Amino acid sequence: MPESEWPRRYRQYRVERLRRRDIGQIAQLERRVFLEPMSWGQIVIKYLSPRTIYLVVKDGPRIIAYFGFEVFGAYAHVLANVTDPDYRHQGLAAFLLTAAEPLAQARGARAFLGEVRRSNTPQLRVLQTIGWQVVSEMPRFFGNGEDAYIVMKVFA
Ligand SMILES: CC(C)(COP(=O)(O)OP(=O)(O)OC[C@H]1O[C@@H](n2cnc3c(N)ncnc32)[C@H](O)[C@@H]1OP(=O)(O)O)[C@@H](O)C(=O)NCCC(=O)NCCS
Repeated sequence: MPESEWPRRYRQYRVERLRRRDIGQIAQLERRVFLEPMSWGQIVIKYLSPRTIYLVVKDGPRIIAYFGFEVFGAYAHVLANVTDPDYRHQGLAAFLLTAAEPLAQARGARAFLGEVRRSNTPQLRVLQTIGWQVVSEMPRFFGNGEDAYIVMKVFA
């Protein structure tokens, strides 16, 4: 999505690909919001893979939202998307997930695929508003035994 088409309220922010020096901020946000966060080292490994794209929204030097995914053939598999708790309910998650579609398509992907905890109502609601669908369920997918909804967005 070109910057000229961004909703006006986001013009104060920058959207860019993750830089290596900012990986620490991603690791910090993961620790803050996830039960099973990826470590700094795990994120570095993903970051270095040519399959991976991390798109971030920044308010000055601060990463306030991010979305990471890996492309495997026709599928772009979601690593994570997070909005900093101080910046939620502005539509940033929906915006970022949508803005990332052309990047995934440019790598040959035809759909996003992800797993969402059964209890993660906020994420399920965001996804529903932007055309993602629950296509299946996977019992005990997560480390703590929680079931996952398998979610998908087929690109138009
Ligand atoms: C799930 C998550 C990414 C949503 O982030 P977000 O940026 O707040 O999401 P959005 O703003 O797009 O949508 C959230 C709500 O804000 C509302 N909203 C969107 N734009 C808005 C605006 N301009 N003004 C007010 N509210 C708005 C949406 O309608 C939605 O409302 P709802 O929860 O009542 O349905 C965030 O809660 C998060 O980081 N959770 C922890 C990590 C996680 O679980 N990630 C997903 C699994 S990888």
